[in-house]
Amino acid sequence: MTKGKSQPIGPTVQLKEGLSWDKLAHMSAEDIRRQKLFPSGFMRLPHVKHEVGGQVFPQKQVEQFPRLERFDVDFDLPDCFLPEFPSPIFLTTHPELGDVSQGEVLNADNFDRRFRGLITPVQLDGLRMLVTQFPQEEFNLTPDRKSPKPSLGVACLDCHVNFHTTGQFHLNPDTRPQRDRLRLDTVSLRGMFNQQVHGSKRSLRSVEDFTEFEQRTAYFNGDPIRAMKKGMNIIDRLQVAHMAQIQNMIDFPPAPKLDPMTGRLDRARASQQEIAGEELFFGKARCVSCHQPPAYTDHMLHDLFLERFGAEADGPIKSFALRGIKDSPPYLHDGRLLTLEDTVEFFNLAAGLQLNRDAKSALAAFMRAL
Ligand code: HEC
Ligand code: HEC
Repeated sequence: MTKGKSQPIGPTVQLKEGLSWDKLAHMSAEDIRRQKLFPSGFMRLPHVKHEVGGQVFPQKQVEQFPRLERFDVDFDLPDCFLPEFPSPIFLTTHPELGDVSQGEVLNADNFDRRFRGLITPVQLDGLRMLVTQFPQEEFNLTPDRKSPKPSLGVACLDCHVNFHTTGQFHLNPDTRPQRDRLRLDTVSLRGMFNQQVHGSKRSLRSVEDFTEFEQRTAYFNGDPIRAMKKGMNIIDRLQVAHMAQIQNMIDFPPAPKLDPMTGRLDRARASQQEIAGEELFFGKARCVSCHQPPAYTDHMLHDLFLERFGAEADGPIKSFALRGIKDSPPYLHDGRLLTLEDTVEFFNLAAGLQLNRDAKSALAAFMRAL
């Protein structure tokens, strides 16, 4: 990853006894569905406690910030499949500085010291709001909570650590009944200035709207009555604008192998394997139809119709940006896929590509260069 954390390579999803990836890719969707051969690792990942849900934070983060501990559930993914903690921060206004995090987790204690003078007063005020804890369903001052001690709540940057993610998850506020709610893996806030739709299902059209409703809707599972009981906090529109402005200043990590004008590989810097992967991505594998440079998204929601294979129907989901994608495992909206090789096997099957082993490795290598 960008700061040097190593990352597992290769597919982790298990196949049924006697099956190979090649054999599976050559079967029709109907046969896969009838013989129940769709890998369970490609199906929905449930929340560790789906009937209750709520926000869950990784072990490493809870060790540093014990206020994020829940007494009723533990985080369920090993650290090697998570992004770097803390992750680097790149400002669009200061590319020459590189990572401005200085290896710290941005929080209420250090944000002013770190950023005063580097960003505008408006942006600093927005950042202050992003590190301020707000009451939330599981973390609040009432006895109806899931933290051992009363809590002032959760800050935006508790999940979007350093404007990125470390795999924090919760259930989406948009779906009912409870068992159908999607687990949501926290998305990165890098490069949002270049994305036109926000949220995997809500498709909100501005960072301002998402900022306002993230706290009002998602913090209380889309239930304003519970919010009133536990401390609803309506952020006024001026503060929302400040919060949005600083979120829009965060860049993707540097990608030295990409041509700055086209967002495509610079052939003088890329390896043969990466170039082969790019050719597939823009050619035979058709990834480009939904993931276009520079951010490698088409700003649309697409339905992958996994029910063809016997999986649950997820409906349309945002085609997430693939710039900087090596830094944000696990993959898909719920984090069901742990490595980039898993995503290649997934799309190879879902899109009926029938790629060979070399082609699949090349595609993953290309994505690591993005
Ligand atoms: C559980 C931890 C969590 C907390 C706390 C949290 N978020 Fe998020 N955030 C998410 C997840 C998960 C998504 C993806 C939502 C979806 O797919 O619908 C998201 C998405 C977003 C997006 C849209 C990204 C995109 O382009 O699709 C924005 C903007 C955002 N959050 C801002 C905020 C702000 C502002 C706060 C504080 C008020 C906040 N978040 C608090 C988890 C969190
Ligand atoms: C029909 C549009 C479409 C095509 C074609 C497509 N994708 Fe995607 N891609 C999506 C959608 C939609 C998602 C999010 C799905 C979800 O989260 O359930 C996604 C997610 C991903 C992710 C995970 C992103 C993240 O942040 O978790 C990767 C990696 C990816 N695609 C790679 C590829 C590759 C490689 C190809 C070509 C082999 C490809 N995609 C082809 C629509 C598409």
